[in-house]
Amino acid sequence: MVVYLNGSFIQKEDAYLSPADRGFLFGDGIYEVIRYVEGRPVFAAEHLERMDEGLEGLMIGLDPGIRNRMEEIATELLERNSLMKGQAAVYIQVTRGAVWPRTHTFPEPAAEPTVLMSASPFTPHTGLHQSGVDVITVSDVRWMRCNLKTVNLLPNVLAKQRAKDAGVNSAVMIRDGVVTESPNANIFGVKNGELYTHPASNLILNGITRRAVLNIADEFSIPVRFDPIAEHELFTLDELFFTGTTTDIQPVVKADGKEIGDGKPGAICRKIQQQYNLVLKGEAE
Ligand code: PDD
Repeated sequence: MVVYLNGSFIQKEDAYLSPADRGFLFGDGIYEVIRYVEGRPVFAAEHLERMDEGLEGLMIGLDPGIRNRMEEIATELLERNSLMKGQAAVYIQVTRGAVWPRTHTFPEPAAEPTVLMSASPFTPHTGLHQSGVDVITVSDVRWMRCNLKTVNLLPNVLAKQRAKDAGVNSAVMIRDGVVTESPNANIFGVKNGELYTHPASNLILNGITRRAVLNIADEFSIPVRFDPIAEHELFTLDELFFTGTTTDIQPVVKADGKEIGDGKPGAICRKIQQQYNLVLKGEAE
C-alpha cells in the first residue's frame, strides 16, 4: 500500500512520523474521510472546505499549494493502489507538525504541518442498510467544539467500544437530555412524516452526508425540523437512522434493547437510502 506523507508517495511500511508530532502528543490535528466510487470522489469539495474550516478553527496554516493538490494526490493514491475500480475511502490528516521540546503553546516559528493521506478499499455495509442496527445510548462526554473534525476521538472510540462490548453495532450519544450523534455518524429521527435533526451547532459535526440527506428531503418535499430529539422521545419516534461517509444511510431499529418504531427500517429511511445510492453512483446530485 502506497501512502502520501509530507510530499512523498511511499510504501506504508516506510512511513514514519516524529514522536514530537503534535498529532501524536496532543491530538493537535484535523482529519477527513472522503468516499470514492469507481475513481470518482463523492462531495470532495465539501469535505475539503470543512477541513479548511477545521484548520482555521485550530489555527493551523496549511500551504495552499498542498491544499489545492489534495484531490490530485487522492486520485494518484487510488491509481497507485489499484483502487480506480470499485469503492475506496481516502483518509486525510493534517497536524500542527513536529517540534521539540513539547510545549502546549503553538511552536514559534510555526512548524510545517504534517500531511498524511491514504486510500483503502471500501465495502459498503449493505447488509446493515437492509436489516438496520441495534445501538446503546451513552453520554456524550466530548468537548464543546464537536463541529471541528479533530483527531481527538477518545470519547468516540470508547463509546464505539462500549457498543461492541454490549454486542450491538453502535451508540447514540446523549448530552443534556438530547440526542447529538453517533460516535461516527449523524442521526435523523422521523415522526409523523417529518425529519428531525440536531441543528448544526458546536455540539455536532455538520456531516457532509447529513447535508446530502437534507437536499434529498428538500427534493422529495419531506419537512425537516432542526430540533434535537429528546432522549425520552427516542421510543416515540417512527424511525431513526444514521448518516455518514462510511455509514451511508443506516436504519437504527433498536436502542438499549427496545424497538424504535415497529423495529424495522422505515419507509422514509428507505426512500432516502434509494436516492442516496444514486448520489453515490453519480446518477443524482
Ligand atoms: N466520521 N459525526 C461524527 C462524530 C463523525 O465522526 C462523522 C464521520 C459524521 C458524519 O460526517 P460525514 O457525513 O461528513 O462523514 C458525523 C468519519 C467517517 C470517521 O470518523 O471515520
